[in-house]
Amino acid sequence: LGAELVICGRREEVLAETAREHSAETGGTVSHFRCDIRDPQAVEDMMDAIWAEGPLDILVNNAAGNFLCKAEELSPNGLNAVLGIVLQGTAYCTLAAGRRWIAAGRGGNVLSIVTTYAWTGSAYVLPSAMGKAGALAMTQSLAVEWGPKGIRLNAIAPGPFPTEGAWSRLVPN
Ligand code: HXC
Repeated sequence: LGAELVICGRREEVLAETAREHSAETGGTVSHFRCDIRDPQAVEDMMDAIWAEGPLDILVNNAAGNFLCKAEELSPNGLNAVLGIVLQGTAYCTLAAGRRWIAAGRGGNVLSIVTTYAWTGSAYVLPSAMGKAGALAMTQSLAVEWGPKGIRLNAIAPGPFPTEGAWSRLVPN
């Protein structure tokens, strides 16, 4: 649709390959940043680098982490690994973009990918359910706080995608 796309993730080679694929498929401009969104300084540095080229119009919060685990067997690190991405990482990215939009007096759009269990909860994916519920609450909160500033927030819960990666983790034999 003519957008310039910026993607981020933790692994350089995966990002570079994905950027190449999208660019070849669409003829569009796709750049990438290695960034672990659990690190607020890394998010700030990435946003500074993006804004140096021009402001974002749309932020898509798609990054997530999840695994099946009995809640009573979750370690603090396991809980934090998922919450750090799904809850804190989503907030770091959104606040970093929002601060820049507000400072420039311009609008923006945030689209956060959540899950249908954000409002029902779900067994065996406790940190993911907690994180997605938080991302939904963030969307509703900031829609009110930032709406008058021309910043629109939406969340969509597309439901499960039966890809090999998702199904091997979420529907094991
Ligand atoms: C129990 C686990 C675990 C598992 C990791 N941990 N996997 N505990 N069961 N299957 C624990 C580890 O033991 C460790 O705790 C802690 O989590 C951190 O593990 P690391 O491997 O060091 O973490 P990290 O490299 O940061 O990666 C963690 C992750 C990983 C992000 C959760 O699984 C990952 O990269 N997944 C790929 C991305 C992903 O999951 N995408 C799916 C998103 S789908 P200890 O105590 O041992 O140190 C989604 C929506 C689902 O979110 C909607 C479905 C309908």
